Amino acid sequence: MTPRPVKISAVGTHVPERIVTNDELSLTLDTSDEWISTRSGIRERRIAADGEAASDLGAIAAARALEAASVRPKDLDLIIVASLSPDMLFPPTASFISGRIGADGTPAFDLSAACTGFIYALATGSSFIASGQAEKVLVVGAEVVSKMIDWTDRGTAVLFGDGAGAVVLEVAESSDEGILGFDLGNDPSGAGLLKLPAGGSREPATIETVESRRHSIRMNGGEVFKFATRIIVSSCREVLVQQGCRIEDVDLFVPHQANIRIIDTAARKLGIAPEKVFSNLERYGNTSCASIPLCLDEAAAAGKIGQGELVLMVGFGAGLSWGSCLVRTGGLKRIEE
Ligand code: UT7
Repeated sequence: MTPRPVKISAVGTHVPERIVTNDELSLTLDTSDEWISTRSGIRERRIAADGEAASDLGAIAAARALEAASVRPKDLDLIIVASLSPDMLFPPTASFISGRIGADGTPAFDLSAACTGFIYALATGSSFIASGQAEKVLVVGAEVVSKMIDWTDRGTAVLFGDGAGAVVLEVAESSDEGILGFDLGNDPSGAGLLKLPAGGSREPATIETVESRRHSIRMNGGEVFKFATRIIVSSCREVLVQQGCRIEDVDLFVPHQANIRIIDTAARKLGIAPEKVFSNLERYGNTSCASIPLCLDEAAAAGKIGQGELVLMVGFGAGLSWGSCLVRTGGLKRIEE
């Protein structure tokens, strides 16, 4: 059977109300606005309220994407939620989101691939449509990373933020439009570089794991930085070659938003013009699985995702994992605020 073309028809997002600036973090951490903004490009981030979980943000983003696509929740064939900060280890956050949007009966599962999760979820959802097993798929990236942070660790606390983004995948009208291809990968030798050690079956929760803050993100920032700048370049080249495209053909580059220095270095090595690089890291920090859909939404609002344009997205993160995706867009619907 010939695979069916798949398009990303609509996007929706939601971020928590509370804005935390670098100056506010400097009140409790040995850091400064100057260090954070020059080393990472981040100026502020959104932080969820007490009791606010990934599904609370994800359900709002999902409802907005569905409304923009004019797709009823009951018409969905599949819901995939990518998150490294799920509501619970189980049931899946996808189940909570499904309940909130009124998609009872629809298959719903979580996908764990750290910050690369959104790209992996796109690949999974689009395969269901391409193979004829689904007509309409909802892909959500929902994160409340702030609840997984050791707020005394300045090496990680300043980098992350909370937010959610969702897209609707549907059958594309023609094979010239839609998702053209993916490059996905994982390097298990780097699994120890970025992790949340305790709370799973390897290190179940004990008083000691709590007291030693092993329920928070641990990262070797320097090594992850080197990996990111290398893998963005090789993965993007791979997907471009696979589709017979050149870097000059790309109209918009949407990388995972971890550090502006990673983005700038990778863009320079790839030879992509700075005006084609999208970034909103300054206002949100690293929102993990939500970062790419948050960018897609703002890029669409700014009129940067027009008919026929070539969009290159790339994610990377713990695993160490990576994924890039090349899309020929037919536009991207969103609800005007
Ligand atoms: O989603 C994917 C996962 N994450 C990433 O992609 C993150 C990748 N890594 C990075 O973005 C960067 O490595 C960081 C932003 C984490 C760190 O930047 P860096 O330029 O690599 O700094 P560094 O780790 O080499 O630290 C330089 C100095 C150190 O002090 P000493 O040893 O030179 O005295 C750190 O202790 O900066 C210090 N430092 C800070 N100072 C003020 C580390 N964090 C902070 C901070 N404020 N928040």
